[in-house]
Amino acid sequence: MKKSHLLPIVTLNGYLLHHNFMKINFCNLSLPPDIEKIVWDKSKRMVKKNSFILGKEVNEFELAFANYCETKFSRGVATGCDALLWAMEGLGIGKGDEVITVANTFIGTVLPIIRTGATPVLVDCDKNTQQIDPEAVLAAITPKTAAIVAVHLYGRLAPMDELQEIAEKNGLVLLEDAAQAHGAKYKGRKAGSIGKAAGFSFYPAKNLGAWGDGGAMTTSDSELAAKVDKIRNYGQVKKYYHSEFGWNSRLDSIQAIVLTEKLKLLDEWNQKRRIIADWYYDFLKDIDISTYHESQNNEPVHHLFVVTIKNRDQMIDALSNVGIPVGIHYPIPIHKHVCFSEHSFTRGKCFPVAEKQAHELLSLPMHPSLTRSEVEFICSKLAILL
Ligand SMILES: Cc1ncc(COP(=O)(O)O)c(C=O)c1O
Repeated sequence: MKKSHLLPIVTLNGYLLHHNFMKINFCNLSLPPDIEKIVWDKSKRMVKKNSFILGKEVNEFELAFANYCETKFSRGVATGCDALLWAMEGLGIGKGDEVITVANTFIGTVLPIIRTGATPVLVDCDKNTQQIDPEAVLAAITPKTAAIVAVHLYGRLAPMDELQEIAEKNGLVLLEDAAQAHGAKYKGRKAGSIGKAAGFSFYPAKNLGAWGDGGAMTTSDSELAAKVDKIRNYGQVKKYYHSEFGWNSRLDSIQAIVLTEKLKLLDEWNQKRRIIADWYYDFLKDIDISTYHESQNNEPVHHLFVVTIKNRDQMIDALSNVGIPVGIHYPIPIHKHVCFSEHSFTRGKCFPVAEKQAHELLSLPMHPSLTRSEVEFICSKLAILL
């Protein structure tokens, strides 16, 4: 049954069924005024001290974030890409190694693998969950395999039990790309605490987003934490004494202040996202649109709310015409990107599930301040457009 009674719209063919427009935000980057005031006050004090990079504010955030992720350590770095890169570099992954990951991810999972000198080995995703397929991972293992990067796509954890078993049996390092999964849980365990190390992104639109770029590596391995400490800061043991071949990849103090304050609200915001996802499931249940399957093991944080729709491309403009912004995460699977066309790891590769889904995925608005009537409006438009 189509819920066309819900609210009016412009149809795909362009003729007007009803006139209705609701300006909806895809995500919401603004802070509640009281929190914003705290951030400005703390920032003013920080500026007066001229303490702009790393320092007390970053230390404070690292402690709070490690505690939140249930790991011993977290290290603030410049971006989520860097967090994964330094974790791999700190673990000695590099030239001659193969690192398995999934084809339907953001390029930010794969570029760090390439930057270490290792070769990415892509595998397909599961058609129901859109998560990395553990059987495909098993089949991709060779004597050169050093690591698996599990991607917690859209805010739901990858099948970590299966991946952990594969990693243990084959002597591989299991890493987590947790860029979209701040606070998500798998069988009660927090994203970022299950693998050897994890990379988080604090890109502004993430569930925990900064006021610019930022990232963190989490781990409970003291040696790795100490290595990343140095790598991110020019490889120095103390100022101008360089013992490692490092880089400049540090978290700014202002980002740490923003993140420390936002972290206090993260669980509340994630809970709101779960309520909103339930509204979506409810309104979409009678409409011919597939939502991904939630595994019982997962407590997701719905970084994105993704559905699959056959006539996706035709719908985007029609939705935009009635005020509904949407996204595609992601329109091109990794092996199809032009930048990798000369790389042997993509040559002749075919991942049917990832390729099919790339034509059908549609990310609907999702952020903690979305209202029930906005979700109802979105779903009513989808119903008519199908
Ligand atoms: C799955 C995934 N991996 C890695 C990254 C890279 O994070 P950043 O943009 O902070 O480098 C992102 C960020 O968008 C992401 O979504």
